[in-house]
Amino acid sequence: MGEVNKEDYIWWKHGVVYHLYVRSFNDNNNDGIGDLQGIIQRFDYLVQLGIKAIWLSPIYASPMKDYGYDIVNYRAIDPSYGTMEDFKELLALAHANGIKIVMDMVMNHTSNEHPWFVESSASLDNPKRDWYIWKNKRNGKVPTNWRSAFGGSAWEWDESTQQYYLHSFLKDQPDLNWRNKDLHNAFFEEIRFWLDLGVDGFRLDVINYIVKDEKFRDNPFIKWGRPTKDRLYSRNRGSSIKIVRKLRQLLDTYEDKMLVGEIYTPPPGNNATVINYLGEGDNALHLAFDFSLIFRFWNAKKYYKCIETWENNLPEKAWPSYVLSNHDLLRSYNRLGIGRNKAEKARIASILLITLRGTPFIYYGEEIGMQNQKIRRKHIKDPLGKKYWPFFSGRDKSRTPMQWSAEDYGGFSSVKSWLPINRNFYRVNVEVQENERNSLLSHYRTLIILRNNYKAISHGSLNFLQQGENGVLGYTRIYEEQEIYIVLNFNNSKRTISIPNDESWQILYTTHLHEEKTCQDFIELDKYEGMILLKIE
Ligand code: NOJ
Repeated sequence: MGEVNKEDYIWWKHGVVYHLYVRSFNDNNNDGIGDLQGIIQRFDYLVQLGIKAIWLSPIYASPMKDYGYDIVNYRAIDPSYGTMEDFKELLALAHANGIKIVMDMVMNHTSNEHPWFVESSASLDNPKRDWYIWKNKRNGKVPTNWRSAFGGSAWEWDESTQQYYLHSFLKDQPDLNWRNKDLHNAFFEEIRFWLDLGVDGFRLDVINYIVKDEKFRDNPFIKWGRPTKDRLYSRNRGSSIKIVRKLRQLLDTYEDKMLVGEIYTPPPGNNATVINYLGEGDNALHLAFDFSLIFRFWNAKKYYKCIETWENNLPEKAWPSYVLSNHDLLRSYNRLGIGRNKAEKARIASILLITLRGTPFIYYGEEIGMQNQKIRRKHIKDPLGKKYWPFFSGRDKSRTPMQWSAEDYGGFSSVKSWLPINRNFYRVNVEVQENERNSLLSHYRTLIILRNNYKAISHGSLNFLQQGENGVLGYTRIYEEQEIYIVLNFNNSKRTISIPNDESWQILYTTHLHEEKTCQDFIELDKYEGMILLKIE
């Protein structure tokens, strides 16, 4: 698995990326909403964490129907987050600290309040009519059976022009027509705007949705007759990849930029589609999220399978990435904790995340063990939660304010926050964990320091010695003369691993306390123990 990588340091490969949900990170102007000045205020925290890039959730002007994934002006900062001056200040501060800024770019749809859509819906012959996807009725009904990812038909009737428009998400998020050359060019100019400003890359929202079937065929029913329809014709069309390749060409005219794509295709673990978007490894996306670990039960063998599949299917020049959670899913701390021992499992999972061959993405608050917060109906903000309550309470539970301290409002704000803070903030917070040697935060910091200091971890080859037998994962990372061995005990009981060939390994880090600092012949692992070892002569 994976050749030794001799390239020099490449931020998006070797560094750790922090996924920062701006609305919930830190509120500087005390309106209950996180903002850019709030990030600036807490920037030292990010520097100390050792991360090398920040992915900002969307901060563009937006009516916030889908909290920024409905953009009304791609070149403006939403006033609730600050101003363009604030953004420039943040960018300069980040760059001065060797940290890159990755913007969230939504290419599939705009807000229905975007001037392009306002024009497009004005009349059938408006020059921008074809910038969105409009269709006549078919047999008096919707043009296709396509479903919105958020439920219901993906078509919305427009009374004034007597046609339907397509929306793969909310009806307030009409889909753009990427087959239209003018739209294509206009959109690339929006992206160029940010590149010229100096941003370092983009996380591409639902990038596999952007082009639809040219013939607008109905999606087939899933075989065993479930009510939902497969999205065969409404996403993953080959032409989406062509656009990604064009975008890559644009980025390559600048220096050191990066594209990471969200390609969410159930069933998890089926990464063939995802991998397509990486092209030959150097001419499409730089990175694509692999969500498969997120959907695995706590089982070393199953985790191994995910990693093996990902590694074996990647094009030679491509590079993996790993993630445990994001703003659409449950907090990893809760998910891993099914069957208890949350704290221990969180540590094992984070060692895996940060020491595998590939780029780790940390979701804000994961480093202090933030948990899902149950949101009462009256506090629900997510449109999905509003629509599906009580069957699904939405995604707010993993978007609650960052827990900075035990002060009022968790140090996030001095007023009530836009979403309720998790009730455990007085005990789970940065301030408490900052100076505690055994805290989860100290653990994350140490792991990131190790990754930053040992090229074997950031650059090295990957070879599994323990593939999950007896609930243990063990793998080496090798770069030139440096050899690192990582062993992770997924069990609630001790395990012993034998070391072949009279090798000696020095413990660089362990989740548990040990008197013995070197291991020979065998390694003894306590329950849920994770160790990082360095080979010594
Ligand atoms: C994926 C984003 O992660 C999610 O938050 C958003 O609702 C949809 N795309 C629509 O943009």
